Amino acid sequence: MSDNYLKFFEDIKSGFKDNIQIKSLYDKPFSDIYNSYEADFEEVALYLNEAVECGQDILELCCGNGRITLPLARNNFNVTGVDCSDDMLTLLKEKKERMPFNVRKRINILKQDVFSLKLEKKFDMIILPATTICILFDDPEKTMQLFRNVAFMLKDHGKFLFDIRNYNNVENNIIPTHLVCGDNICLSYENIDKKVGQATGMFLTLTKAPNGLMQMSVAESYKKIIPKETIEKFISVSPFLIEKKVEYSYNNDDLFLYVLRKEEDNHGEYC
Ligand SMILES: C[S@@+](CC[C@H](N)C(=O)[O-])C[C@H]1O[C@@H](n2cnc3c(N)ncnc32)[C@H](O)[C@@H]1O
Repeated sequence: MSDNYLKFFEDIKSGFKDNIQIKSLYDKPFSDIYNSYEADFEEVALYLNEAVECGQDILELCCGNGRITLPLARNNFNVTGVDCSDDMLTLLKEKKERMPFNVRKRINILKQDVFSLKLEKKFDMIILPATTICILFDDPEKTMQLFRNVAFMLKDHGKFLFDIRNYNNVENNIIPTHLVCGDNICLSYENIDKKVGQATGMFLTLTKAPNGLMQMSVAESYKKIIPKETIEKFISVSPFLIEKKVEYSYNNDDLFLYVLRKEEDNHGEYC
């Protein structure tokens, strides 16, 4: 079954290569499909509880369509959201426009690559939700520089929160999914390969175009499988200390949320 599934995708891609649009995972129509996932109560509560302790000003790295940005702003926090995807940010801007004025005024949206982000403004809390660190962790030295920049943008008492997937109970596996979302039907699989240290996602979407014809789009995603020992060694040489680690679940995935505080003496030589 698994091999058939992989071959199905390969056959579609090679057999229809002139008819298929190759997209980034955060471009339309995939951004619309991502937008059908809501943050759940437990996930939002984790960020809100920490924010209450930290202060008003939050920076969300890789904020995407605002899945977490909006509930934070609705709960009276000022949120600056940064992302590099036009289509994801368009969704966030559209949702922001539908919010009451007092929520809208608390949301500031920036289009930028987070690796080159170094704002002068200091924040009470900086967050990187949705296991996005697994996309950014390709080059650990670059990620360490991101952590240093995060420390620079954080107030002294501030906290940095990010999550990773807990793969301890996950076997090497191919997980197929099928989702219908508006005019899109999406078939996907995730190939979890712990030996290679990567979870590879393949997405195929059939969309009803305005002219009534069907459009096919494919996208791929590559997420590093970061064992908790690796991330904790990484943190130990970063400008941060682990304040706590919270286990939670979202969409059948087990996750660890790391809550970090600044440690002034550490300058982060990672090897
Ligand atoms: C898994 S989504 C997370 C979106 C949102 N934070 C959430 O919780 O749903 C990952 C986001 O990271 C963004 N992203 C990936 N690499 C980036 C980079 N180098 N700079 C800025 N944004 C990036 C993508 O555009 C996408 O919106």
